[in-house]
Amino acid sequence: MGTWQTFDVTGRAAEKKARVIIDHALSKGVNFFDSSPMYGEAERVLGETLQKRREQAIIATKVWAGSSEEGRVQIARALRFFGGWIDLYQIHNLVRWQEHLAVLEKLKEAGEVRAIGATHYNPAAFGELSAVMKTGRITAIQIPYNPREREVERQILPLAADLELGVVVMRPFGQGGLLRRAPAASALQPLHPFGVMSWAQALLKWILSDRRCHVAIPATSDPEHMGENAAAGEPPWFGPDERAYVARLIG
Ligand SMILES: NC(=O)c1ccc[n+]([C@@H]2O[C@H](COP(=O)([O-])OP(=O)(O)OC[C@H]3O[C@@H](n4cnc5c(N)ncnc54)[C@H](OP(=O)(O)O)[C@@H]3O)[C@@H](O)[C@H]2O)c1
Repeated sequence: MGTWQTFDVTGRAAEKKARVIIDHALSKGVNFFDSSPMYGEAERVLGETLQKRREQAIIATKVWAGSSEEGRVQIARALRFFGGWIDLYQIHNLVRWQEHLAVLEKLKEAGEVRAIGATHYNPAAFGELSAVMKTGRITAIQIPYNPREREVERQILPLAADLELGVVVMRPFGQGGLLRRAPAASALQPLHPFGVMSWAQALLKWILSDRRCHVAIPATSDPEHMGENAAAGEPPWFGPDERAYVARLIG
C-alpha cells in the first residue's frame, strides 16, 4: 500500500480514518507499506497508526535529502516512527544516491535496515537506475508500471530479473487516472474466473501477473477499496492473453 497524499494528514478525525485503513489492510493480508519524508506527515501517521502492530508490517520508506547530514536526520526520525528498524530503505528518486547508499549500508550492518533499494518515477532516469542496480549494492527497486506506463519493460524489468532484485510497483492506477474511465462491467466478464470483479482489480492483477514484479502499492483512503485491492493479490494469475486483453481495454 502507498501512503502518498492519503496519509499526509493531521488532526484526530483524519488520523482515525488512517487507522481504519491500516486495520482493514492488516485484516486483509496487506502488510507492505511504502512511505517517504517527501509525503509530509505520512511516515509519522503510518508509524502511529501501526503502533503495537509494527511486527506485522513490512515498512518500505525512503531517504530524500540533498546531503548525507539531512539524510541522517530523516533516517533517525523514521527509525523512531517505526520501532527502531526499517525493512526496506529506498533512495528516493536517486537523489545523492552515492552518499545515502554508504550511510544505509552501515545501518544495514548494524541491523537497523534490513534491505536497501532505489526508486525513480521518470523513464529519463532509468539509465542511472540501471547503473545503481548493477553495483550489486541494492536488492530492490521501485518503479512505475501499469498498462499505460510500460517503459520499464524495455530495460529495467529484464535487468531486475537477471539480478534477482525485488520489484515494487508504484502508481498502479496511474495516480488514479486509469480508474476515471473504467470499461463497462460486461467487459470484465472474461476475467471473472481470475477473481477479477472490478477494473481496479484487473489493473492490479495485470501488474502482479508479471512474475518479475513482487509488490504493487496502490494508495487508498477508502476501506472498501482496500479490501477490493487486496483481493487482487491472490492467484490465479493472468496469462499473456488476459494481460493483452486488459491492455486493450485501456484503449
Ligand atoms: N517513488 C516515487 O517516485 C513515487 C511516486 C509516486 C508514487 N509513489 C508511491 O506509489 C504509491 C501509489 O501511487 P499513487 O498514490 O500516485 O497512485 P495510485 O495508487 O496509482 O492511485 C491512487 C488513486 O486510486 C484510487 N483508488 C485506489 N484503489 C481504488 C479502487 N479500488 N477503486 C477506485 N479507486 C481506487 C485512490 O482513491 P481512493 O482514495 O478514493 O481510493 C487514489 O485516488 C504512492 O502512494 C507512493 O507510496 C512513489
